[in-house]
Amino acid sequence: MELMGFGGIAVIAAAPERNRSRDVTHSYRQDSDFYYLTGFCEPEAVAVLIPGRRQGEFVMFCRERNKEREMWDGLRAGPEGAVSKYGADDAFPLEDIEEILPGLLEESERVYYSMGVIAEFDQRLLGWMNRLHSRRQSGHAPDELITLDHLVHEMRLFKSAREIRVMKRSARIAEAAHSRAMRLCKPGMKEHELAAEFYHEFACHGAECSYQPIVASGSNACILHYTENNAVLEDGDLVLIDAGCEYELYASDITRTFPVNGKFSANQKALYEIVYAANRAAIAQIQQGNHWNDPHDAAVREITRGLRDVGILKGRLSTLLKSKAYLPYFMHKTGHWLGIDVHDVGDYKIADNPRLLEPGMVMTVEPGIYVSSGIKGISKSWEGIGIRLEDDVFLSRNGAEVLSDHLPSSAEEIEAFMGSQS
Ligand code: GLY
Ligand code: MN
Ligand code: MN
Repeated sequence: MELMGFGGIAVIAAAPERNRSRDVTHSYRQDSDFYYLTGFCEPEAVAVLIPGRRQGEFVMFCRERNKEREMWDGLRAGPEGAVSKYGADDAFPLEDIEEILPGLLEESERVYYSMGVIAEFDQRLLGWMNRLHSRRQSGHAPDELITLDHLVHEMRLFKSAREIRVMKRSARIAEAAHSRAMRLCKPGMKEHELAAEFYHEFACHGAECSYQPIVASGSNACILHYTENNAVLEDGDLVLIDAGCEYELYASDITRTFPVNGKFSANQKALYEIVYAANRAAIAQIQQGNHWNDPHDAAVREITRGLRDVGILKGRLSTLLKSKAYLPYFMHKTGHWLGIDVHDVGDYKIADNPRLLEPGMVMTVEPGIYVSSGIKGISKSWEGIGIRLEDDVFLSRNGAEVLSDHLPSSAEEIEAFMGSQS
């Protein structure tokens, strides 16, 4: 409300429920901005923030308590609960929004709203605004419609101590699932059996998947968003698992790649060590005052150097870097912001320059090497190897803190861990 200032009003709608098939809905997920601002997890709600009223007023519209509906669908906070449990200054049944919200808009100069997120609500808000404008002679109407994303997303980029506690928990749960999978993996299992370990571990902790787990064995690891998870884990192959959970709506996003039989082949280990070096070099760049792309540049350098050292790339390092010769093998960025969304909000650039890293930011570090089949001029023996090593990193006032540091990371740690389990 401070950022909006006097004369502003923010309107934020809850995510609608979505049908999965016929009368079955998807499991409900609150809109991230709505959750960030309210902590409220029910659908059919609208939050309104009015800085100019009293000390700044938070008004909520939500579903009323209803004995019959609650018996079928579960308990509701109701407007009473929105006030007592969620800190609203005032709350009303959603049905009353037509009566009340246009009046609140009329008193305001600027409306802050994120257009294009919930299409159904866009139309309602525009309807109210148009009506106010069409009878402007008799009343007032706000002059500006300003996107709320900028304000909220900039706030979401910097995590509070409480948010960091939740994110640490989210990472620990995902780590527990990764160790289960690493411990239980055997040749002959199916990829989805390993995926099941993640569903199990997440559910045991009251968490959900923050995205569909990627369990990609052998050359499936070269498909970046592979989610079929139905192949057999072959002796001698690697398996790449990219899976994280959502705990109290905060995401973790972790990848480990390990040998199905517990032992890396010479070629697998050679490429793994490059990815490991890239991961460490990138993490070392997560320092206050560095640029957002410094970790990526460090990873690119390690990967290019490593691919040249093993003979996959040929030429001078500086020339290879300049020509981006690594791109057929490493085609994605080294990381992204992490928070309530897996690919969290927040600008990566400020006025066309990469932004500076500051305490409170959480990001992933996920270099990889993927050798798809059919790349000309390299030995066939590299083909089908896909490796990614992804950690979640919090930049605190004291420096980078790896939230996923309880998992084996280096080739030696992975072999030792898998060897000790069999
Ligand atoms: N799992 C999605 C990502 O790593 O960005
Ligand atoms: Mn990931
Ligand atoms: Mn990621």
